[in-house]
Amino acid sequence: MRLPRVATAVALALTIPLLATTTASAAPGAAGGGDPYFPLAGNGGYDVQHYDLGLKYDPATGRLDGTAVISLTATTTLTTLNLDLRGLTAKYVLVGTTPARFSQQGVDPVTGRGGELVVRPAKALAPGKKYRVTVVYTGVPGQPTDIEGAPYGFVSFPDGALVANEPEGASTWYPVNDVPTDKATYDFAIVVPEGKTAIANGELLGTPFTRYGWTTFVWRAKDPMASYLTTASIGDYVASTQTGPRGLPILNFVETGLTPDRLATTQASLALQPEMIAFFEGVYGPYPFTSFGAIVDDDSVGYALETQTRPVYSQVASESTVAHELAHQWVGNSVTPEQWRDIWLNEGFATYSQWLWSESRGQGTVQEQFDAVHAIPADDEFWATPPGDPGAETLFADATYDRGAAALQALRVEIGDADFFALLEAWATTNRNGNVTTADLVALAEQVSGQQLDDFFQVWIYTPEKPTSW
Ligand code: ARG
Ligand code: ZN
Repeated sequence: MRLPRVATAVALALTIPLLATTTASAAPGAAGGGDPYFPLAGNGGYDVQHYDLGLKYDPATGRLDGTAVISLTATTTLTTLNLDLRGLTAKYVLVGTTPARFSQQGVDPVTGRGGELVVRPAKALAPGKKYRVTVVYTGVPGQPTDIEGAPYGFVSFPDGALVANEPEGASTWYPVNDVPTDKATYDFAIVVPEGKTAIANGELLGTPFTRYGWTTFVWRAKDPMASYLTTASIGDYVASTQTGPRGLPILNFVETGLTPDRLATTQASLALQPEMIAFFEGVYGPYPFTSFGAIVDDDSVGYALETQTRPVYSQVASESTVAHELAHQWVGNSVTPEQWRDIWLNEGFATYSQWLWSESRGQGTVQEQFDAVHAIPADDEFWATPPGDPGAETLFADATYDRGAAALQALRVEIGDADFFALLEAWATTNRNGNVTTADLVALAEQVSGQQLDDFFQVWIYTPEKPTSW
């Protein structure tokens, strides 16, 4: 689903001449969603409301069998529609109850990105009408890698799978409109060998049931969610519960193979979660979703990810990382960048949140964190990456995290504490479950503070040099 926004209205107005010429004749849906960093991620011509995913995974063979029922609305007349699907084989496709022809195209040979399932419905889809597209598929995901070469998506390990899709790895395990603007609700029914646990986003429905040596876990994520935030991690987990503010259910899963040291660190960090949620509610307003919890895997992809309602951690969950992934629930998951180049709106804010949390714990002040970043010499490569356009290959550069967070501290000094904290709360509450751009932040900061801040953001966010005047 897409929330109506001013930017969308403007984009629509700009495309009206184009629409006027194309609506008369039906046309194929675009293969890409228009993100300049990941042009083949996402697709054109429709908008997804809900994914109903039935998955069966066997760690012994690494095989994933899936049935995805995708509820979508066509936004134009579509003779074909694309879904992103990478490295997996579609077996059947239905539109409604009618079988549809389909073909699959491989990944882009230059960038290694992409993977398109092109569906040709028996009858063209009509704009404004709702459809259910069913895809039955199978394959061995293996260990897919992102544009930087890091494992992501559905990452198989001998004991299960760790699933972390950011930025466009959801297509490694289900057919998807893989753009952060097309948020949807999700149901998951995941079948795994008896003894294994399968964990997805949202809430566990009912009691997992076992038949013929296979156990089914049913999860429902009721809040709108971007595809990069979905997970279906599988392994040997021990579950535990906590309660957050206003009875918020917290359900954690820690895998059995953690080293004693890492287990102790993890347990100490997770114990702080209710207190951390209350702390960030004080900064950003009410926790935006219906549940929370952690997935701590004993295998590693080399990073943690803020998967919605249930972040995943590689082998350990440190206190600062738990604070970081929790803060992302507001900044990133509920308030999501429209395009990947605005990743600093996720990472700069989550890092700043981490600084706020550690200051509250007496572990050094935010200003000290800022000073440490600002002490990086002007000729260091760090300053060459502008957080507002880091490049697809360096999406997760230190600059998007630390320079982004330093920019927020500089902004706080610029507009004062009262306006700065009013801005953080307004940012999270007015954009709840939506998508944003840096321009939206500039506009809100100017509105809240009554100051002209173009130069400030130009220097801190867009200039590939160390800001010296702040
Ligand atoms: N968003 C994650 C975090 O900062 C990092 C994800 C890194 N992803 C990747 N494909 N390398 O918490
Ligand atoms: Zn982050």
